[in-house]
Parts: sequence; C-alpha cells; structure tokens
Amino acid sequence: MDKLRIKGGKPLEGRIRISGAKNSALPAMAASLLTAEQVTLENIPFVNDIYTTRRLLRELGASVEFEDDHVVRLHAQKILSHEAPYDLVKTMRASVLVLGPLLARTGRARVSLPGGCAIGARPINLHIKGLEKMGATVRTEHGYVEATVDRLAGAEIVFDKITVTGTENLMMAATLAEGETVLQNAACEPEVVDIAEMLKDMGAKIQGAGTPTMSIRGVAELKGTTHRIIPDRIEAGTFLVAGAITKGELEIIDSNPGHLTSVVEKLREAGANIETGVGRMKIRGEANLKAADVVTKEYPGFATDMQAQSMALMTQAEGTSVITEDIFENRFMHASELMRMGANIRIDGSRAIVTGKTRLSGATVIASDLRASASLVLAALVAEGSTLIDRVYHLDRGYEKIEEKLQSVGADIERIK
Ligand code: EPZ
Repeated sequence: MDKLRIKGGKPLEGRIRISGAKNSALPAMAASLLTAEQVTLENIPFVNDIYTTRRLLRELGASVEFEDDHVVRLHAQKILSHEAPYDLVKTMRASVLVLGPLLARTGRARVSLPGGCAIGARPINLHIKGLEKMGATVRTEHGYVEATVDRLAGAEIVFDKITVTGTENLMMAATLAEGETVLQNAACEPEVVDIAEMLKDMGAKIQGAGTPTMSIRGVAELKGTTHRIIPDRIEAGTFLVAGAITKGELEIIDSNPGHLTSVVEKLREAGANIETGVGRMKIRGEANLKAADVVTKEYPGFATDMQAQSMALMTQAEGTSVITEDIFENRFMHASELMRMGANIRIDGSRAIVTGKTRLSGATVIASDLRASASLVLAALVAEGSTLIDRVYHLDRGYEKIEEKLQSVGADIERIK
C-alpha cells in the first residue's frame, strides 16, 4: 500500500488548479444509464472512485471510455446486467447511485447493500422508502436490495432526513416515471443542482433543484448530452486550509467560491485573509490563527466533508474550538491520529474540543477514511520533522494527484510506493 512522506514547516506559495467534483461526477456517470444514447462528461476528476464506477457501469453493459483531458464518454445502449455486485459496492458505497437509474430504465435492479462505513452506519432506508412510494417492490435478501416495477409512478416523497445521494437517486428515478414526483426536504448541495442541470439537458422536466422542494415530471425517454462537471468544493476547501495552516499564499483556480461560503466565512473568522473572484480564490495565512467553533450542517451550512480539515487547522489556533459533527455519528477517527502528532483534542460524543495552539511533531499515522486522510496531510505540512501516512488509498479515492499539486506550491511531500 502506498504511503506519503511529508516534511513539514514550509509555507505553501503558488497556484493550484481544482479538479472536477467527485460527488458530482459519480451520480453523473450513473445518470448515463437513463438513456440509450451517448453521454459525454467533461472535467472528470481522475480519482479511484471514478475508476470503480467505470468498472461497475461496464459490468452493467455500458461502454465507458476515458480521454486524457478529463473527458469520459459513456454509452449504455443496452443494459445487460441489473446487478451492482458486493465486491464493487463494498469498495465504494456511492455504487448505490445505480439503483434509481437501473430501476427507472429497466424495471429491475439488484444492488448490494453498502454495509457500514468508517464514518457511520449510513443506511439507505430513505432511498428504498422513496422507490417503494413510487410503486417499486423492494426486497432485501442475502445482502442485496432487489427492486422490481413495471414503470415507476410519480409520488410525493418527504425525506425524514436530508440525504444527498438519496435525493440524487430518487430524482434520477423520477425522470422516467409516470406522472409527477415531488421531493420534500431534499438536499440542496451544488452537486445535486449539477446533476439536475445535466438531466434537464437530457430532456428531464425538473424544477426547484437546489431548494428543499423539487418536482420532477416524468418523460418517456431521455436523450444523450455533453455536460461539464462543477469544480470540487471540498478539494478547494482542503487547499484553502493548506494555505491557512502553513501561513502561505495560495491562489486556488478553476474553483467556485459561491459553493464554499460557509467554509470561507469560517476561515476568515479564524483570521485567514481570503479574496474571492470569478472562478478563483486567494488565501494568505496570517501569523496568528484564532480558535473558531464549527458545526457541520447540510448545504449551505458547513460541510461535514471539511470537518476533519478544520480540526487540523484548529490545532494551530490560539484558544479552544468546539467542533460539532451533526451529520455522521462516527466522524472523528482522525482525532486520535492528530493526537499522536501532539494535538490536544478531547472527544465528547458528537463534539471535539480542540485546544491550541500546539506544536505538532512528525509521526507514522494511519488514514481511516477520505477526509480524515486529508486532515493528516494538513497536520503533517506544519509538523516538525517527517510524517509517514499509511493507507493513502483512502486519499486517492477523492483527491487527484494531491502530492503533485502540493509539490507544485513548495510542499516537501513524496509518495512511497
Ligand atoms: C454524500 O454521502 C457524500 N457522498 C458524502 O461525501 C458526504 O459526506 C454526505 O453526502 C453528506 O454531505 C457522495 O455524494 C458520493 P447522506 P451520502 O445520505 O449521500 C443518513 C466524501 O467525503 N441517512 O446525505 O451517503 C446518513 O446516515 C463523502 O466525499 C439515513 O439515515 O450522505 C447520514 O447520517 C463522504 N438514511 C445522513 O443521513 C438514508 O437512506 C446524511 O447522509 C440516507 C442517509
């Protein structure tokens, strides 16, 4: 397994280009199952979850061809299999995003239940409940969800809890249903809006994407399209924190500041100096960071996918910060590794109390999930001496060439194969 070796202490300076959003590219690739025509996606991030999705779609019968400049051509002319196997779903729970499109297109889907994950139980009961409301017969057996229907029917669906992939799955399913579907308490994330825009270009009738109430009027069939994936706001947020924590000066380009307002506000509250412009942001880390409390919320609140990175930052801030994780029940795995580097963190249920500023020293640490590994990279950038991060396959799932991007702005980082 690859490792990353990082020697801390250098302020980062320069320009970093942001890749396309993983959490938009995954549902966009699944959406290609909704049509027999070709779909072309531009600005695709070359990260491992995208390669897993390629394997999955090919198993279902689609052709999936990547082109160097971050373009993928997908063509699900015929669906040859209805099954998303356990071997793939266990490596990437977002595989569940083929459930809605498969059922809507063919009337059948057999998708392995994702099972638990490092950050929480993460059930898909709300996805299933919504499909049942649309008339599907759903059985869970031998670790698989088996769903069948002649044709999905429009329904009023009220989510008990805001769910991003749940909203995306049911939105996609509803595009080919008979009649109108209304999603209440829907997720408003920019990635949901991006998929809705793509589906509309394919001929779907969608209103209200980006608001808690979305309506979808089903059509008989969808056509192909070419769609450009939005920038990855979490990758951009991660590099903003890298600029703040190393007291460097970074320009973040091909990003969308409008998708990161709560993160930018929080970094400013902590004392970072951030300018924003069209498609770019510039951060200058100031001498003294101040403690700031963080509460993770659904969009437009503070993203849970930025919680771990903000914890690393708060170890370098003067004072006590309280970080409350409101979305997932077990998303503090990075805290114990940060403590191994010298951080002062106390976990109290869904709250982490971080006392700073503490001197961090390099150590061998283990990544437990995607964003936890990003927080260890950030801590290592300011730690004294060398840090060795193990299990960086977590990082590769969602960050494209992170060590090359960091090297390009002066970080002393290398991958150890
Ligand atoms: C998406 O996951 C993202 N993944 C996650 O990013 C992100 O952390 C999460 O949304 C929250 O923003 C993708 O888009 C591929 P949820 P998702 O359904 O859709 C509960 C990353 O780092 N829930 O919005 O799986 C659930 O347990 C990843 O890139 C149910 O109870 O998250 C959680 O507590 C990690 N039943 C809450 O809702 C359901 O049926 C929100 O989860 C569905 C969800």
